[in-house]
Amino acid sequence: MNDRLIPPAAEARTSPSASASACGTSIPHESARAQVQGLAPYVDDLPEPRGTLHAAPVMSPVAHGRLNGVDASAALAMPGVRAVVLAADIPGDPVLASFSHDEPVLAQGTVQFAGQVVALVVADSVMAARHAARAVKLDITPLPALLTIEDAMAANSFVLPPVTVARGDAAAALAAAPHRLKGHFAVGGQEHFYLEGQIALAVPQEQGQWRVVSSTQHPGEVQHWVAHALGIANHAVVVECRRMGGGFGGKETQAGHLAVWAALAAHKVGAPVKLRLDRDDDFMITGKRHPFAYDYEVGFDDSGRIQGLTIDMMANCGWSADLSGPVADRAVFHVDNAYFLQDVVIRSHRCRTHTQSHTAYRGFGGPQGVIAIETLLGDIARALGKDALAVRTANLYGPRGATERNVTPYQMQVEDNILHELLPKLELLAHYQRRLEGVLAWNRQHKHIKRGLAITPVKFGISFTATLFNQAGALVHVYTDGSVQVNHGGTEMGQGLNTKVAQVVADELGVPLARVLVTASATDKVPNASATAASSGTDLNGKAAQAAARTVRGQLADFVAALDGCAPEAVRFADGQITSPQAVRDFTAVVQQAYAARIQLWSDGFYRTPKIHYDKVTLTGRPFFYFAYGAACSEVAIDTRTGEYRVLGVDILHDVGRSINPAIDIGQIEGGFVQGMGWLTTEELVWTDKGLLATKAPSTYKIPTAADVPARLNVHLWPEENREDTVFRSKAVGEPPFMLAISVWEALREAIAAARADRGLAGAAAAAVQMDAPATAERVLWAVNAP
Ligand code: MTE
Ligand code: MOS
Repeated sequence: MNDRLIPPAAEARTSPSASASACGTSIPHESARAQVQGLAPYVDDLPEPRGTLHAAPVMSPVAHGRLNGVDASAALAMPGVRAVVLAADIPGDPVLASFSHDEPVLAQGTVQFAGQVVALVVADSVMAARHAARAVKLDITPLPALLTIEDAMAANSFVLPPVTVARGDAAAALAAAPHRLKGHFAVGGQEHFYLEGQIALAVPQEQGQWRVVSSTQHPGEVQHWVAHALGIANHAVVVECRRMGGGFGGKETQAGHLAVWAALAAHKVGAPVKLRLDRDDDFMITGKRHPFAYDYEVGFDDSGRIQGLTIDMMANCGWSADLSGPVADRAVFHVDNAYFLQDVVIRSHRCRTHTQSHTAYRGFGGPQGVIAIETLLGDIARALGKDALAVRTANLYGPRGATERNVTPYQMQVEDNILHELLPKLELLAHYQRRLEGVLAWNRQHKHIKRGLAITPVKFGISFTATLFNQAGALVHVYTDGSVQVNHGGTEMGQGLNTKVAQVVADELGVPLARVLVTASATDKVPNASATAASSGTDLNGKAAQAAARTVRGQLADFVAALDGCAPEAVRFADGQITSPQAVRDFTAVVQQAYAARIQLWSDGFYRTPKIHYDKVTLTGRPFFYFAYGAACSEVAIDTRTGEYRVLGVDILHDVGRSINPAIDIGQIEGGFVQGMGWLTTEELVWTDKGLLATKAPSTYKIPTAADVPARLNVHLWPEENREDTVFRSKAVGEPPFMLAISVWEALREAIAAARADRGLAGAAAAAVQMDAPATAERVLWAVNAP
C-alpha cells in the first residue's frame, strides 16, 4: 500500500525545481510533524487559565420519562464540588438556538433519551466532578419509549414532515416491468469515534464578554448558541478552534452543546470551566449517523435496467431534529447514485425516537441513499444471473454530452458523467474480468471459503443543499518581513484544509509555502462562517483566501507598475520574486517599499458558489455545483462456517479534479474508504430494550484498526480537472470516497450468494441475500444459512 501512497507524477513534482508552485504538490499536512511529535495542542492540552474548574454531565438513565425532580444535595456535599447547574440556571433561552428550536439545553419536565443531560456538576477536578455527577439523584417516572424506526412509524412519531420526490408513473412502470423485486432492509448508524472527544473551555472575560475554545466544525454556530443561552449579543462571544482531533460530522452541531454547557457552568460559578466528555459519556450523549430502513419495489427488464422504483426511506433521527432534515434530503438526492431513474417515487420519513439525536456523519445521508440502490442492483443482477457490473453500467446516467437519461429525479442535469469512461478504466486497472473468472473457479473448488468481487461507483453532489451556506470569507495579512498569515472561516479537523489553503495563497503571491501560515479559526476574524462540512471546505475557503490574496497582489502589482511605468498585468509573482518587464525584485523588498509608501498589505476575500439554486418545498433545482465521481473494486473471502471474512484487495479510481495536494487527497480516499468499511462491516450500535446504548466503548464497538486495512489498497486519481471553475479546478474529496466502501458490502453479498448456491438452493432463493448492515460475522453467517 505504502509504495503507492504518492503517485509517481506527484512525487516528481515535490522535488525542488526552478519555478515551484505549491498547488499540485504532495506537501505534508501543515501539522503532521507536530502531531506525531505530540506538539500540536488539542483543547485539553492548552494551559488552563487560573482558577479553571471542571464540569461533568448528569445523564438520564431512562429513555423517556417525566422528570419530577433533581436532588443534588449529596453531590454538593462531596469534596471539591462547587456547583450543580440545572435548567433554571440558564440566563437566556433554555431552548437551544438550533434550527428547529426543539431541544432544551438541559432536560426540564421530561427526559427524551437515555443519556440526555439533565444537569452539570462543577468541581475542582475532572474526577471529582465525574464522581459527584453519579451522586446526583434524578426522580424520573418512566413513560413508554419509541426506540426503533418501526416503533416510530407505527406511532406516527416524526421530527419533521415527510418529503416525496417523484417523477413519471412508477406504479404503471412497475406493473409493466417483466421482473420485480420487493423487500425491506436496514442499515445501522455509526459512532464518529473522533480521537479527540467532544470538549469545550469557556472563559469569562471582562465586562460580560466570553472566550470559548471549542473542538468544533462550526465556530460561528457555537458563538450564536452560547450567546443565545447566556442572553447576550453574538459580539460578546469569541469562539476559537485551532484544530480538531477529528470531527467527521460529529462536531458540526453537537460540539455546540458542550460549549453551551461549559459556558452556563462558567456563568454560574464565575470562573473558567472546561468540559471534556469521558468516551462512554460521549457515546451516550451525542448523536450518530442516522440508522435507516427501506421498503422498496423495483421493476426491471431482461438486461437489468430499472423500469420503475418506489422506495420509502425511513431515517431514525432520534429525539430532536438537529440536522435530520438536510441529512434525509441528501439521502433522497443520492438514492439514484449514478443511475437514471425515469419512473420513480422516493418517500423520506424522518422518524422521532427516544434515542440520541442523530446528526451529520461523513456523507451526510448520502451513503444511506447510495447503499439502497447499490443493494437493489446487486439483487437484480443475481436474480437475472447476470454480471453485476454489466447491470450497473446499463443503468448509468448518459455519458458526457448526452441529451437523454441525464436528469436526476430532483430535476438537475447531469452534464459531466465520466463513469462511462471511469468504470472501464477501473475494470482494467483491477483486472476485473480475469479476477471474476478466478473467483468463480475458486468458488467451484472450495467448499468452506467463498469469495466475492464487486465494483460499485459513486456520484456525489458537492455543495450544501441549503444554498445560503455556500459562502465563505478569508483574511490575508502580509507582514513587512514578507511573511504571510491567512485566516478563513473553515476549520481543520485533519482533512488538510489549512494545508490546501496555504498552498493556494502561496501560489497567488508567488512565495514559498513556508512563508504562509494559517492561523486558528476564530469568530472575531471571519464572521458568520458556515460549518466546515459537505466536503466544501477547500472549495469555499480556498476561493475566499485566493480572492483576498489576489487583492493584496493587485495592490503590490499597481505599486510596482507605477515604479516601472508598466501595466500592472505585466507584473509577475513567482519564486519569492516580483518581476516586471524592467526589473526583478525580491518579494520582501517590494513589501517593505510598499509599506513605506503606505500601501495596504492585507485584505479580506469573499466567495459564493455560483449556479446553485433549489426549491426547499419540492426538492428540485440545481442543489449541487458539480458531482465528484469514483469507483472501487473490492474482493472478499468469507468463511461459511463462522461468518468471518477478510477484505483481500481493493482498487480505487477516484475523481478529485486537478488535485491541489495528491498525498492529502489519497489520504482522504483511504481514510474515507476504511471508515465506510467500518460502517458496513464491524461497527454495530446496539441499544437495549430499555433504550440504553450497550455498545459505548471500544471494547464493544469495533472501529477498523490498522490491521483491518486491506493488505492491498490501491488508489488512483482520475486525471482530469474539474470542468467547473473551482479553486485550482480541484474537486471536493472529504466525503465521496466513504461510499466506495459499498463495494465491500456488495462483494460480501456476492460471496454469500455463492455459499447459498452450494447449499443446493435453486436460482431465486440462492440469489436472494437478505442481510442488514453492518455485515458483522454473525449477520454473514445468518445470511449464508437463511432459508
Ligand atoms: N478527515 C479527517 N482526517 N478528519 C475528519 O474529521 N471529516 C470528513 C472529511 N474528512 C474528516 C475528514 C467530513 S465529514 C467532511 S464534511 C470533510 O472532511 C470536511 O472537510 P473539507 O470540507 O475541508 O473536506
Ligand atoms: Mo461532514 S458529515 O459534512 O461534517
